[in-house]
Amino acid sequence: MSEPLLRSARWVAAGYMAQVLRPGDCAVDATMGNGHDTERLARLVGPEGRVYAFDIQEQALESTRARLEAAGLLERVTLIRDSHANMAAHVHAAPRLIAFNLGFLPGGNKQVTTLLPSTLEAVETAMRLLAPGGMLLVCCYPGHAEGQRELDTLRQAFAGVPPQAFNILEHRFVNAGPGAPVCFAAEKQ
Ligand SMILES: C[S@@+](CC[C@H](N)C(=O)[O-])C[C@H]1O[C@@H](n2cnc3c(N)ncnc32)[C@H](O)[C@@H]1O
Repeated sequence: MSEPLLRSARWVAAGYMAQVLRPGDCAVDATMGNGHDTERLARLVGPEGRVYAFDIQEQALESTRARLEAAGLLERVTLIRDSHANMAAHVHAAPRLIAFNLGFLPGGNKQVTTLLPSTLEAVETAMRLLAPGGMLLVCCYPGHAEGQRELDTLRQAFAGVPPQAFNILEHRFVNAGPGAPVCFAAEKQ
């Protein structure tokens, strides 16, 4: 039997990454964590492209650096230990894609999670920095309290964005319970 297409919010996001990115593009992983998405982005932008990856935890940078080194992809990626809220200070090209996978580091300290104020600031900055035609992806995890706040606030903020600026789609598994992850995809016009 073939693999199901509707596996998870992250899988939906990965599908957009593959559709949007081309060799030579600039992409941003706003929440590098253990580097799974960073690696995916680095493969898609190719040797001429560049990925900027952010995390506030040294553990995330170490884990991602090891993953990229093992895959021979480290040269394509700039690893940045800073909040994604400060993205504009580090990213000087216009990215074709910016991805957020909110929440806490899998296998790490669950107290260190993305927080609504910096998430909102970073998402607003990302929408400004994106190249025309570029894609913003945000995976939210409402299974914990801060994740629910992030989802509610982003949903409201996205609903107020004029369609002349972005087309925004919410991917939600309607039969997976209230804590199921959600993926927003926002395409800049
Ligand atoms: C769910 S994990 C990301 C998983 C990652 N995409 C992967 O493929 O392994 C969320 C990450 O966001 C990081 N984070 C929390 N606040 C942040 C901030 N203000 N700026 C950047 N990263 C942040 C956490 O340290 C954590 O590693």
